[in-house]
Amino acid sequence: MGSDLKHNGSSRELEVPVIDLQGSRGERRSVVVQQIRSACVEWGLFQVINHDISPALMKKMFQVAKEFFDLPTEEKWKYSSSERTTTVDLFHGYGTKEFGTKGALDQGDQLRHRTLPLSARAYEQWPSHPPSFREIEEEFTQEHHKLKEHLFELISESLNLRSSFLNDFFGKDYAQTFLINHYLASVEQTPSMGLQNHSDICALTVLMQSVSGLQVMKDGEWVSVEPIQDAFAVNLGDQFEILTNGLYKSPLHRALLNSSERFSVGVFSCPPDDKVVTPIPELVAEFPPLRYKASTYAQYRAEVMTVPDMVKTLTPDL
Ligand code: SIN
Ligand code: FE2
Repeated sequence: MGSDLKHNGSSRELEVPVIDLQGSRGERRSVVVQQIRSACVEWGLFQVINHDISPALMKKMFQVAKEFFDLPTEEKWKYSSSERTTTVDLFHGYGTKEFGTKGALDQGDQLRHRTLPLSARAYEQWPSHPPSFREIEEEFTQEHHKLKEHLFELISESLNLRSSFLNDFFGKDYAQTFLINHYLASVEQTPSMGLQNHSDICALTVLMQSVSGLQVMKDGEWVSVEPIQDAFAVNLGDQFEILTNGLYKSPLHRALLNSSERFSVGVFSCPPDDKVVTPIPELVAEFPPLRYKASTYAQYRAEVMTVPDMVKTLTPDL
């Protein structure tokens, strides 16, 4: 691995912001909104605590994830998508790097489901072992829907937009995707890569990690996002960078292998495929010039997935 992985490749001084959502529906709301604005401008990533998703549910999610990934490989492949990856989309169901898509793990495997809208669910790709898996995934993603509604309100307010702006913009048919990344333990002494540098294509990613590994790029340095008990890491994706005309960042991030097996469970919120995403006029007026071209979310994804190594080159217009 390159020399940038020395000392974990990570800076010791910088710390990812931690935002306490306690009171964010009441007396502390304006404080939290300001903290979110700073974190989104400076990092595009922060951790949240007191987010209302129960620690017991988080724990159960990790437990069933472990039980599923412990199954023999041929059992897991039963949950892969019957249609193999096209160049413009990520695989769904169970998969490994052999799919060769953006975001594929270097060493490990994944389980990915469309969980919203309900019509997009392919239950045949949801594990039936362990028996409680489906129920827990259902509850977990429902809770994440509520958290997304809350975070979208706070992010709207942080942009001086009306509270419901982003929830209205994404609409009732927004897409929610659920992803478990399972990384093997590193066999090397020095840290090696589990997931290469990328930015997320969607709008918002909320992720929990079993052990450390996630790193985010900040001012040219890799900074570790250390797991905090019962917290989620929240990172903005490309659609927010476009919507905010670059004011908010969709940060580059990556995952290093740990000395032990590692799981991360992420829930992504994305616009519907036919939604045209373009910088919000009020923000272009405030921070000119217009920096990104308009495209539907499906077009944007197709472009990113077909241009090899295209990492957050957001097709600036001007
Ligand atoms: C991701 O970026 O999808 C996952 C990163 C991680 O495993 O921490
Ligand atoms: Fe990511």
